Amino acid sequence: MRIILLGPPGAGKGTQAQLISKEFGIPQISTGDMLRAAIKAGTELGKQAKSVMDAGQLVSDDLIINLVKERISQPDCANGCIFDGFPRTIPQAEALAAAGVDINHVIEISVPDDEIVSRLSGRRSHPASGRVYHIVYNPPKVEGVDDETGEPLVQRDDDKEDTIRDRLAVYHKQTAALVGHYQEVAKQGENAPAYHDFDGTKEINTVRDEIFAVLKA
Ligand code: AP5
Repeated sequence: MRIILLGPPGAGKGTQAQLISKEFGIPQISTGDMLRAAIKAGTELGKQAKSVMDAGQLVSDDLIINLVKERISQPDCANGCIFDGFPRTIPQAEALAAAGVDINHVIEISVPDDEIVSRLSGRRSHPASGRVYHIVYNPPKVEGVDDETGEPLVQRDDDKEDTIRDRLAVYHKQTAALVGHYQEVAKQGENAPAYHDFDGTKEINTVRDEIFAVLKA
């Protein structure tokens, strides 16, 4: 099963990707997490991505497409994967299709801009695993530390209010077009991916149950 998660920054893509990954035993491919790992490791890719991400802009399509192609060739993706934060532009979607990667489900999670800003300021992450928390809506068992490793949680550099607004503007300008794109693709016959839209303002477990219901149908 291959799934694409679509939605604005902070919609809950990473949160739901982790839940789907556990339930269905397929890996989460988060291009954002991969880029942050490259920055932390000080690789050439990380050096190129850092200033772009800090400004809330998109990393170049070529870099991202190569990164994803390399990742999906790994053995753990043989039975499927969850694309979280990819594709983000029409050229990325076209590259995925051109590579012959069949998608079964496109899942859009919708949340209005106003809610995103307050949501992201409360986000805390565990970079090594990609686990995501919220100080109010999804708190860790012990404040400030990851439930499974006990390691400290961090606030992302791009979760500052100005950068969140820049990321939202980029989403509306460059990524929101994928909603219409995949709604059209979904009409193209039996083997086309199914398109589903979820209200991401509902409670995390409610969104999870609604998504699981369509994936299990
Ligand atoms: P990326 O890491 O992909 O960030 P994003 O798309 O902006 O998405 P987020 O991770 O911010 O949000 P999310 O939807 O995963 O929400 P989450 O589950 O964490 O990208 C970062 C940057 O990398 C980009 O700006 C770009 O520069 C670059 N990049 C990445 N991919 C790229 C690509 N393909 N092409 C080019 N550049 C790329 O939830 C957010 C918070 O809300 C959490 O605290 C969570 O606990 C809470 N929450 C979740 N669901 C709910 C709910 N239902 N109710 C209440 N709270 C909730």
